[in-house]
Amino acid sequence: MTLLITGAAGFIGANFVLDWLAQPGEAIVNLDKLTYAGNLESLASLQGDARHTFVQGDIGDSALVTRLLAEHQPRAVLNFAAESHVDRSIHSPEDFIQTNIVGTFRLLEAVRAYWGSLPADEKSAFRLLHVSTDEVYGSLSKDDPAFTETHRYEPNSPYSASKAASDHLVRAYHHTYGLPVLTTNCSNNYGPYHFPEKLIPLMIVNALAGKPLPVYGDGMQVRDWLYVKDHCSAIRRVLEAGVPGETYNIGGWNEKPNIEIVQTVCALLDELRPRADGAPYSAQISYVKDRPGHDRRYAIDASKIERELGWRPAETFDSGIRKTVQGYLANPEWVAHVQSGAYRDWVQTQYAAS
Ligand code: NAD
Ligand code: TYD
Repeated sequence: MTLLITGAAGFIGANFVLDWLAQPGEAIVNLDKLTYAGNLESLASLQGDARHTFVQGDIGDSALVTRLLAEHQPRAVLNFAAESHVDRSIHSPEDFIQTNIVGTFRLLEAVRAYWGSLPADEKSAFRLLHVSTDEVYGSLSKDDPAFTETHRYEPNSPYSASKAASDHLVRAYHHTYGLPVLTTNCSNNYGPYHFPEKLIPLMIVNALAGKPLPVYGDGMQVRDWLYVKDHCSAIRRVLEAGVPGETYNIGGWNEKPNIEIVQTVCALLDELRPRADGAPYSAQISYVKDRPGHDRRYAIDASKIERELGWRPAETFDSGIRKTVQGYLANPEWVAHVQSGAYRDWVQTQYAAS
């Protein structure tokens, strides 16, 4: 038995594969296009592990996906692949439409054909798990209740609109064709192997490089932050026990304004790697022009997954953010290779012979 996982050279997918293979379980076929966000160095510890097969390719390549499904006969497909950065979606939305909408549609079509050909017992056990975001629900005011699974979709950025479209397609494939799908909508993740274009890794990397720490607008936008390993354990649980056709919100019960996140990162760096001149890292904070259409607040009500599947986050924000900062300090090579672009050479080095 295998799992076909898409986008598992990215931040969350790579963490999921590392965690999955740390326990006994099925082998993984990892289909990833290796965009700028895909980094096989994050999976370097799996070198030589026969349970991980990497295939460079696009979820929108129907022939390739069809071949992989026929060859590996997975009992589930987990779709992490996406363009994921809001700011990039504002500058150039096209890739978001192609991967998140068209790519997900083509993946669904290939999976539907494969699933339709399975014998009855495998057909009923099969799952397609689609990994999505809380951003599809739009923005909350200060006192609004947190997003539940029935909150209406109100995406505000090209990124969140493209993810919302993919969620709707996944839902429709269940409703129309009976495809056994599961959808998860998660809040902001942080942790190891996070590409330093997102808030937390960008702040760590810029702080250490002596660069400004750009805080958009007034820095009072609120996000709910979840340690990535907790997201991975939630996905594992949904795959195991989620009810086909259902969606599950995943969050950390941990709302914080951006400026507080940045101050926390600065304080941890002051403690763990003080600046040579003795000044606090917070001196590098620089308020910059706000993101267009910036969502003010996201908050996840994760009580359904707790009630129905018994999942709760294991990490507190204090412990998770400390581990995260320590991890970046301990792994300067990963960061340096991302910044220099050398991580892109990894695929040649690693897979030259295969
Ligand atoms: P990421 O940008 O770090 O990784 C995305 C991966 O997908 C990369 O390895 C990239 O090469 C690959 N990819 C992109 N287009 C592809 C294509 N057409 N075919 C195959 N592979 C392709 O993203 P992430 O932060 O790991 O997010 C993973 C998923 O989780 C996404 O669907 C995202 O919407 C969702 N999500 C992310 C967060 C978060 O805080 N990062 C929160 C909730 C949900
Ligand atoms: P980000 O990590 O891009 O995630 P998302 O936009 O998907 O929530 O941003 C998190 C928050 O941090 C968001 O409110 C935008 C803000 N932000 C900054 O203030 N400065 C930055 O340089 C970045 C990248 C984000």
